[in-house]
Amino acid sequence: MQRDAAILPERVEGADGLLLRRWTAEDAEALGQAIADSVDHLRPWMGWVCEEPASIEDRRARIEEWERAWSGGGDVLLGIFLAERVVGGCGLHRRIAPDGLEIGYWVHSGFTRRRLATRAAWLLTDAALAQAQISHVEIHHDKANVASAGIPRKLGFQLIGEGRDQPEAPSDLGIEWRWRMDKHTWQARASREPAAG
Ligand SMILES: CC(C)(COP(=O)(O)OP(=O)(O)OC[C@H]1O[C@@H](n2cnc3c(N)ncnc32)[C@H](O)[C@@H]1OP(=O)(O)O)[C@@H](O)C(=O)NCCC(=O)NCCS
Repeated sequence: MQRDAAILPERVEGADGLLLRRWTAEDAEALGQAIADSVDHLRPWMGWVCEEPASIEDRRARIEEWERAWSGGGDVLLGIFLAERVVGGCGLHRRIAPDGLEIGYWVHSGFTRRRLATRAAWLLTDAALAQAQISHVEIHHDKANVASAGIPRKLGFQLIGEGRDQPEAPSDLGIEWRWRMDKHTWQARASREPAAG
């Protein structure tokens, strides 16, 4: 968390009923259900799945921790909602540079290949780069995660390198790919939110 950092966006509206909004304690049950429905799909790539299933109390407590971190200028974790249904999660993380944000995402197993991750990442990129102190955003994923690579590639991020990383999830090779989008490139391009798939 950074003391002087601006508060990150807590609500970003997309087209066709797509909404990214910060998780609140009232979402605990719906979030737990979305993770439970998707656990086999998430486990290979998301290290935190080893802590599932979480009790409703633990999940509420985690969401409250996320809220405290966000309100102090730290990371924001948002649900991806489609017509009010939880279809995934995403976030902006302050772990790459003082003027950079890393985007993360996952999609409910029943809603994949509909460009939801691409649209969510587009919305987050646009919102993040609208912040005065942010000059770039990055997407990092394990080299073996071919599905995840499709998102930055589709959005025109530049692959800036690969590096050794501690494997965090069962299918990780421990080779991280890093993709980047700079503010000036994004603004010059003035792309539009990708259409629903
Ligand atoms: C990775 C993930 C978020 C993709 O979500 P999604 O909403 O299905 O992705 P999109 O529909 O926006 O796909 C965008 C592009 O990525 C590529 N892609 C997505 N899923 C793919 C798959 N299973 N295999 C190969 N390419 C894939 C394609 O190029 C796709 O474009 P296309 O459908 O027009 O061909 C989803 O599979 C997921 O939740 N995986 C588990 C969690 C995870 O890996 N999170 C990322 C950790 S870094």
